Amino acid sequence: MKLFTTEQMRKIDHQAINDYGIPGAVLMENAGRETVGLMQQALGTCANSFIPIFIGPGNNGGDGFVVGRHLYQLGGRPIFFLLSDPEKYTPDSKLNFHIAEKTGLPTYPLKSDSDFRQLTTICQQELGAGRRCYALVDALFGIGLDREIGDHYARIINLINAQQRDRALPQAPVISCDMPSGIHTETGAIMGVAIGADHTASYSFAKPGQMQGAGASLVGDLHILDIGAPRQIAAKIANTFATTGREDACKTLKTIRRGPLSHKGSHGHLLIVAGSLGMTGAAILASEASLAMGTGLTSLVTTKSLNPIFEMRLAEVITIPLSGEDNFFTVSHFERICQAAMGKKITIIGPGMGNNRTSFDLVKKLYQNLKLPMLIDADGLNALATERGLLTKAAGPRIFTPHPGEMARLLDISTEEVEADRAAAVEKFMHIFSEVKVDIVLLLKGAATLIRGKRGPLFINCTGNSGMATGGMGDVLAGMIAGLIAQGLDPMDATKLGAYLHGMAGDKLRETRGIGFTASELAKTIPLCRKELEE
Ligand code: ACO
Repeated sequence: MKLFTTEQMRKIDHQAINDYGIPGAVLMENAGRETVGLMQQALGTCANSFIPIFIGPGNNGGDGFVVGRHLYQLGGRPIFFLLSDPEKYTPDSKLNFHIAEKTGLPTYPLKSDSDFRQLTTICQQELGAGRRCYALVDALFGIGLDREIGDHYARIINLINAQQRDRALPQAPVISCDMPSGIHTETGAIMGVAIGADHTASYSFAKPGQMQGAGASLVGDLHILDIGAPRQIAAKIANTFATTGREDACKTLKTIRRGPLSHKGSHGHLLIVAGSLGMTGAAILASEASLAMGTGLTSLVTTKSLNPIFEMRLAEVITIPLSGEDNFFTVSHFERICQAAMGKKITIIGPGMGNNRTSFDLVKKLYQNLKLPMLIDADGLNALATERGLLTKAAGPRIFTPHPGEMARLLDISTEEVEADRAAAVEKFMHIFSEVKVDIVLLLKGAATLIRGKRGPLFINCTGNSGMATGGMGDVLAGMIAGLIAQGLDPMDATKLGAYLHGMAGDKLRETRGIGFTASELAKTIPLCRKELEE
């Protein structure tokens, strides 16, 4: 699904208005009326109920006036609370303010302490008259929010969020017009304070800030409403964000569907270089996940001392014990690993490799010399972070799968900086490779995983849940993505599909089992998820 930023949405509205002659007031009318349609669907009838509507200074406030007017037509009692001076409204908002006034709908200012006291009194009077509160409508800010929220705006947002605790406002579902006010349209960050909506009516398209950061959890149920901007406008505007989706996942899986005559050699051979003393689990999880994903054959390179552990546990995996008595990988293993890489489709380097200089040297040498596609995770990433200049020296296609801490080390910034604007961190990393010829894919883990190739939009993966915040999940993801590359997908398709299926498996486990499922259990769920998408 395509997502559009503030700038891109403005272009769409602008073209609808100027090139197609659809007045802004018509778009606003459509937005408000569609929002009321969704409210009726989600909340039932508004008859004999009152609806406080909070009106901001821009066009989002105008949407709020239209919402109120249509609720009134349906028998509801909208009450508008105006947080800014109507004299300063935009022309379309002013128009709808005047229509509301002429219709006799009540409007009250909401700025001073006494205004806030009046808000509570009005709501109590309505309740006292036997009317219920249908909804609280947030028409404060849409895509035009451009700074931190303070003053009376922050005060009302806090009151709306604290309905149950404070009782200054009646308890009712919160409906946000376009964006939950306070959420940054692009990053999803909270700009000081933000509404927690039950439903968000997103006009024309979804926005990146609804899918990532705090925005993803504050939108509530997201509804994308058509407000009549001609479809061909958006088709011509390059979207810089998109989401991974079920439809795409199904399509991608079809391309690696098995024929009746296929054999293990038809589904790729994957090489894993992972594990060290105390960290054998990472190698086991990546190996098992790769097989669960459908890889034809998986080989695991291990130090001789650890080989018995893998032989005992991994019945289906070929182990390749290295010579020497070390419990860790060293640069002396380079030649043997290059030999082992022959005939393989991809290699995973890093899970549980150990945070030590000798294995770091090996990673760096393999990174610069092995032409095979390579997925680099965990300690593999930490190795490269010790010599960032090497990043551009990739000998073949590379897939990076850092969590925010690893991303921070790769970029030499703090984890907080990565988290403050994850998309910007991704762009910064990809910029390093602008002159590099080989294929590069980055997957930044987190509540909303981001995926970026050298071309195309930044993908936000929307599957997955907080139950997956537990050890070993990253190792499973690495095994899945590499497993899909082994089966013939290109790195970008494999990364998107792997992330989607990984999150889908987590969602299934959370739904059936609740929190507490493990990475091994998730790996076992992969075939079921794949089957579901293939049907
Ligand atoms: N604190 C206080 N004020 C703030 C803050 C803040 N933290 N952040 C932004 N503002 C102010 C801005 O200064 C601006 O006010 P101003 O016009 O007085 O300068 C206002 O908030 C902008 O807020 P929004 O209402 O979010 O932005 P905009 O006016 O651009 O409208 C829109 C956004 C079009 C309503 C969009 O969210 C939407 O709902 N689209 C649906 C379709 C629609 O109604 N289209 C009308 C089209 S008219 C047209 O686009 C020209």
